[in-house]
Amino acid sequence: MVNPGGGRGTVEACLVLGIACLLALSGVRCDQLLHPPRRLGGEAVFDVTKFGAVADGSTDSAIALIRAWKAACNSNGAAKLLIPRGEFAAGEVLFTGPCIAKKPITIEIQGNLLAYEDPSAYTGGAWIMLEKVDGAVLKGGGTINGRGKMLWQYAETKDGPPLPVSFVFQTVQNAQMSNLNFVDSMGFHVKVTDSSNVDIKNIKIRAPGKSPNTDGIHLSSAINVNITDSIIGTGDDCVSIGHGTYNILVARIICGPGHGLSVGSLGKRPTETNLKGLTIINCTLVGTTNGARIKTYHASPRIQATSILFQDILMERVKNPIIIDQHYDSKRRPEQSSVKLSDIHFRNIRGSTISKVPVKLNCSSMFPCQGVELADINLTPFGPIGPLTSACSNAKFFIRGKLNPPAPVCK
Ligand SMILES: *[C@@H]1O[C@H](CO)[C@@H](O)[C@H](O)[C@H]1NC(C)=O
Ligand SMILES: *[C@@H]1O[C@H](CO)[C@@H](O)[C@H](O)[C@H]1NC(C)=O
Ligand SMILES: *[C@@H]1O[C@H](CO)[C@@H](O)[C@H](O)[C@H]1NC(C)=O
Repeated sequence: MVNPGGGRGTVEACLVLGIACLLALSGVRCDQLLHPPRRLGGEAVFDVTKFGAVADGSTDSAIALIRAWKAACNSNGAAKLLIPRGEFAAGEVLFTGPCIAKKPITIEIQGNLLAYEDPSAYTGGAWIMLEKVDGAVLKGGGTINGRGKMLWQYAETKDGPPLPVSFVFQTVQNAQMSNLNFVDSMGFHVKVTDSSNVDIKNIKIRAPGKSPNTDGIHLSSAINVNITDSIIGTGDDCVSIGHGTYNILVARIICGPGHGLSVGSLGKRPTETNLKGLTIINCTLVGTTNGARIKTYHASPRIQATSILFQDILMERVKNPIIIDQHYDSKRRPEQSSVKLSDIHFRNIRGSTISKVPVKLNCSSMFPCQGVELADINLTPFGPIGPLTSACSNAKFFIRGKLNPPAPVCK
């Protein structure tokens, strides 16, 4: 139960104040009158503890967080939502705009947010969602702990709804997220969707290597997104870049454990759209199952993924350092993939691998890959696994510089 007396208390207090609060039972103006914000250098600070949040690690503070957000979002001038030091438990939290406050609005998380472990508390696939906001800065050094451990066993039932994502950017423009820690999400850790101009940097994401579907950061239908200078280790892709993405930069990421830096999976749903302009550069992968990966499904809609660059990537003990797999998870659907891949570049990929075939270009026979570049590849075996080779089917590729293992012969 969520602070059962809270709503009535607010109404009574409004009546006592005897002002226009009755007209504003939505809570916004009322909350502002009851909890006037602290001002720091012109910025109004909306501290969640002034709105009923309790830092005891168990009280559900979701409603208090939402009230504080509404007050900040609807205030005039610069505004900051503050989650101070302490342990705050919360169920589903929606930070919904559009806001009146001066752009960008700040959300500063200094404390630890702990998710409620009951999956029925989450109705929209997210634990915390920022939606319909133009201009937001998220920071604070705090931790967003999804406490997914108890739920991961249910993630395997593939046809059920996915477990909640810890933080979703939904229909957001001009947002920045930095200096935050994510641990043990139920589903994905961070998702950016239907959004543009999002800058994510200096964050840490950590979940066990065996936790299912705990992708670090997932993008879909997103334009102009940078993900940089972050350390990500999970049980699934460190970063996964889905359909409808355009002009994406992923740089200076340290990834592992996990399934690597992935484009896709693409082509699972009929409504998917094209992907174009993706640079993944200056990254290090440690002990991951994949490195630079593109994955698409069989029996897909006819879409294109083009202009993709993987460059300056260091691999340590990676299983599939370079892999295009257009037969991803497709045993049940015989029809080849209709995702057309072209203008794909793997440049300066080096380090060690635990696979005998560390370079695999396995494309669709219906839509062969076009314009694949392999340049300056230097992969050496980790441990006594013998000489390394490359494999290829249905790809037109060209090479530059030195290749170790040697270029494949394409079937
Ligand atoms: C992403 O980085 C590029 C290159 O550093 C920069 O020009 C662009 O403005 C950045 N975009 C965002 C959304 O931060
Ligand atoms: C990648 O690293 C190189 C060499 O350190 C540097 O010159 C370049 O600016 C880096 N690019 C990005 C986007 O990090
Ligand atoms: C491509 O993938 C299919 C299905 O997993 C597999 O049977 C085939 O051997 C692969 N081809 C190459 C060249 O790796």
